[in-house]
Amino acid sequence: MWFNRMELEIWFDRYQYAIDYDIGESAVKTLSVKDVDIDLEKILLRYGYHTGHPDLREALAEQYPGLSGDHIVVTTGASEANFVVVSALVKPGDHVIVEHPNYPSLYEVPRSLGCDVSLYALKFENQFRPDVDELKRMITPQTKLVSLTHPNNPTGSMISEEDLHKVVELVEAYDTFLLFDETYREMASDENLLPPAASLSPKVISIASMSKCYGLPGIRTGWLAAKSPFILDSAVAIKEQLSISNNSLSEEIALSVLRRKDKFLTDARSRIESNLELVADWMSKQTDFEWVCPEVGVVCFPRIKKDMNVNPEEVYRLLAEKYRTFVVPGRCFEMDERHFRIGFGADAGVIEKGLSHLNKALNELSS
Ligand SMILES: Cc1ncc(COP(=O)(O)O)c(C=O)c1O
Repeated sequence: MWFNRMELEIWFDRYQYAIDYDIGESAVKTLSVKDVDIDLEKILLRYGYHTGHPDLREALAEQYPGLSGDHIVVTTGASEANFVVVSALVKPGDHVIVEHPNYPSLYEVPRSLGCDVSLYALKFENQFRPDVDELKRMITPQTKLVSLTHPNNPTGSMISEEDLHKVVELVEAYDTFLLFDETYREMASDENLLPPAASLSPKVISIASMSKCYGLPGIRTGWLAAKSPFILDSAVAIKEQLSISNNSLSEEIALSVLRRKDKFLTDARSRIESNLELVADWMSKQTDFEWVCPEVGVVCFPRIKKDMNVNPEEVYRLLAEKYRTFVVPGRCFEMDERHFRIGFGADAGVIEKGLSHLNKALNELSS
């Protein structure tokens, strides 16, 4: 088999419906059909436009200065957007640089397609911020694609606007492409909001979705934005082999939510802000855990301190199986198992309880 299951998704599949306290998920609290308040009865259940409904593409394009709906392809989540972009750009043996840690698909897709994947490390000691000089040392004339994610999952780190421009100059100089995953972009407050990357150069492709910032992962609606006609045409060719067009109910929900986006984003951002305070307050009292406070987004990537005599994997399993509390182990991101992801998009009560369970599980197992 060319494609292996991702450890992260195996962990989710095993536990996400078997727990009560989800402090691992990377989306803001999931909405219901009632929350989005939309009449689904009138929707025709026919095949959709292959690039996505024109009104939806126009609504999405509004956030990309200089781009129109013609520069958007709507996909089944950012996952499909990543798959079509990478498949369009690489062949077996091509060199690809992917930031790490990251949502594993970002490196698993090029690996599965037979690429030579170099991981570009975000380091705890560097607050998980990207070091552009390091990227300059890694890129070669054979590099076909550079893939970065900011706000980053699972660390919550950001790239500065200045560094983003430097990366764009670098990929232009090497005549390669930058896939910029900005799935968490709109969680940022106005002062922290990066320019949408696809607007910066024809060598850049942005991918994003309705899953994380809007709490709508179940509608599986994502997109890619690009100026390059080659990318846009190839994306549709590949998408037609995967899913032909998008789910018509989901497109209608996405459009309706985007038309009221200020309300949804304001709610999401205020939830993120107050929940981050809660997590930071808990962290400030911990002697067994250490962390880098996330800059933007709804996740952070703390770790159990080295001097704790404990098997971290046992902690995460005890947490799930006894305390019905869900975090995501670092090994799911190919990171040291002492790390784990906390997601703080849930209700405050769930987070408080989940964090207190984390202390209990650690105490129970440490000697
Ligand atoms: C950075 C990043 N990109 C893409 C995805 C895929 O999400 P979706 O397909 O729901 O848009 C995720 C999910 O966790 C993610 O964290």
